[in-house]
Amino acid sequence: MIQTRLKTEFSQLFQTQADAVYFSPGRVNLIGEHTDYNGGMVFPCAITIGTYAAIKPRKDRRLRLFSNNFKEKGMIEISLDHLIYEEKDAWANYVKGVLAYIEQAGNSLPYGFDLLVEGNIPSSSGLSSSASLEVLIAVIAKDLYDLSLDPITLVQLCQKAENEFIGVNCGIMDQFIIAMGKAEHALALDTATLHYRHVPIVLGDYRIVIMNTNKPRELVDSKYNERRAECEASLKELQRKTAISHLCDLSVEQLATYRHLIQDELRYHRVRHAVSEHARVKEAMEALTQNELERFGKLMNASHQSLRDDYEVSGKELDALVSSAWKQAGVLGARMTGAGFGGCAIALVHEQALDHFMSEVGNEYLNEIGYPCAFYVAQVGDGAGRIA
Ligand code: GLA
Repeated sequence: MIQTRLKTEFSQLFQTQADAVYFSPGRVNLIGEHTDYNGGMVFPCAITIGTYAAIKPRKDRRLRLFSNNFKEKGMIEISLDHLIYEEKDAWANYVKGVLAYIEQAGNSLPYGFDLLVEGNIPSSSGLSSSASLEVLIAVIAKDLYDLSLDPITLVQLCQKAENEFIGVNCGIMDQFIIAMGKAEHALALDTATLHYRHVPIVLGDYRIVIMNTNKPRELVDSKYNERRAECEASLKELQRKTAISHLCDLSVEQLATYRHLIQDELRYHRVRHAVSEHARVKEAMEALTQNELERFGKLMNASHQSLRDDYEVSGKELDALVSSAWKQAGVLGARMTGAGFGGCAIALVHEQALDHFMSEVGNEYLNEIGYPCAFYVAQVGDGAGRIA
């Protein structure tokens, strides 16, 4: 087991025994993409791959941080009195960012810790390895310093670290599901109010298959920020004549009425995605609750089409996976998941069709794109916490 190995490695690295081991998951979003910064609904779940950490508090104010995923960076040593972004500290900036914002929120961090981290989320997969690390650190800090941080504040501080310390303008979905996930449940989150509820994922003989494009990560953050800016500009135009606070306050019918307020055709398509996706999430939640899996699958397909055509965040690799998945027997639906431009797609596949599905989609992808994709059958797990 990974936690036993991590404890042994911790002792070797730090010459002392770890006090505790923590786990923080990755996530897939079942439906509701690029709605979380438009006041819309999202419907993600936490998965059983994620980030582990072995930890022991220190007596002084130092942090000694080691990641098995970035061994070449060696031991990173930081003082709690110097929580400042530094390029050379690479992955450890996520640790610094989260601690810095926890402290700024009025919490005291009296002493440092030794930390060994290891994640099994494939790199560049878009399954939220950075949010996984952020929430891991926040949950550890909460326990270690006995902080009275309520879960939503904890999530918001992690998002703030990503937005301001790291400089990626993400919404709140990833940190939220990673902190609040529940095994065998998806999380229906209204990002306008932060009201949420856990919805059982009852898929019968169907499985959630994650398909990784293995596309090298490039330009994701800048294109993501560009989409956000397009939405913000459109919201301002709509607010001249409407009283909305977010794009997703509009129904599909209302958007048709106010379409003329959006000056730019491309931006109208962006808004159409956000508004229609929000409606699809509500319908998908209902479909899942009523065990109408075929309807759920069709909504996933429509979500992908909207992300591909209106929001333009898919790309040839994700489209190759999804359109191949759509053709296979035993598939209820498929769509890209996460920010897009690469990363992963998901499909709902019948248990008995899994092998055939992976071999067909895998071959088609290799022929079309020129390098292999990867598959993982997702298991829906709990949010971040102490495991040993
Ligand atoms: C990334 C962001 C999320 C969300 C998704 C798109 O994962 O971190 O906040 O916007 O993209 O739905």
